[in-house]
Amino acid sequence: MKKILLSAVLAFGMATAAIAEVGETYIEDFDFSFEGPFGKFDQYQLQRGLQVYTEVCSACHGLRHVAFRTLGDEGGPHLDAETVKAYAASNFDIYDAEYDEDRPAIPSDKFPRSGLESAPDLSLMAKARAGFHGPNGLGINQIVKGMGGPEYIASVLTGYTGKEKEQAGVTFYENTAFPGGWIAMSPPLSDELVEFADGHSNDSRHLAQDVAAFLMWTAEPKMMARQRVGLISVGMLMLLGVLLYLSNKKLWRDIKRKT
Ligand code: HEC
Repeated sequence: MKKILLSAVLAFGMATAAIAEVGETYIEDFDFSFEGPFGKFDQYQLQRGLQVYTEVCSACHGLRHVAFRTLGDEGGPHLDAETVKAYAASNFDIYDAEYDEDRPAIPSDKFPRSGLESAPDLSLMAKARAGFHGPNGLGINQIVKGMGGPEYIASVLTGYTGKEKEQAGVTFYENTAFPGGWIAMSPPLSDELVEFADGHSNDSRHLAQDVAAFLMWTAEPKMMARQRVGLISVGMLMLLGVLLYLSNKKLWRDIKRKT
């Protein structure tokens, strides 16, 4: 019996070690304002991230699940209605099937799909990727660190080593965060590539974090509301617990006193 148990434990250990070896990537644990049970999206960071997406990423990547009007939502970038309207119209054209021509986007439209076919849509990317897999590929550290979607995105953007190689006519760039170590996306960010109106730091590391935060919002715009409901429910359950304890005490008081 002991032998069977021992070999089972050994096999399990070897399997997890093997999983860990496949994913030899480095994901930095960036600090984000929305982490933890009381975390919140930083409205200004989301606005900066939107700007980075618009000026850089949107050339290749779409956000086809995100409607322009949600940019005005509270808890998100929270732009005012006029700004949303102007932003949509001046940055994006939408194909109108009725008139068979492109027209400027309006707030009820969604962002266009990816312009470059090989570039994945980014709407849900922050939820589709997990950054943290440890220890040994078990994923237990996600309980503490979170899934690591935005950390993964920021790590990909900052993870270029500078090496490139060509394979079947495609250039690949070495990247310490991308699974497999080589990505077909050329380094999209560089220092001071985007200029912020409020003069916020715009080195590539900050740009990467801002756009990663924005993409977390597109993937889960209602995260704040969800967390609030969770906290209220826990509070109510605690209150209920106290009331139950007290009524239990009261109900049994006479009987317990006799013994
Ligand atoms: C010149 C076009 C181009 C630009 C600009 C660009 N990307 Fe990419 N991106 C790609 C391509 C192509 C891929 C697919 C790479 C692959 O699969 O090897 C990719 C992949 C990615 C991935 C990895 C997805 C995965 O499968 O894990 C992320 C994250 C990403 N891009 C984010 C961004 C962000 C954020 C920006 C803006 C700062 C950006 N990209 C700008 C072309 C681009």
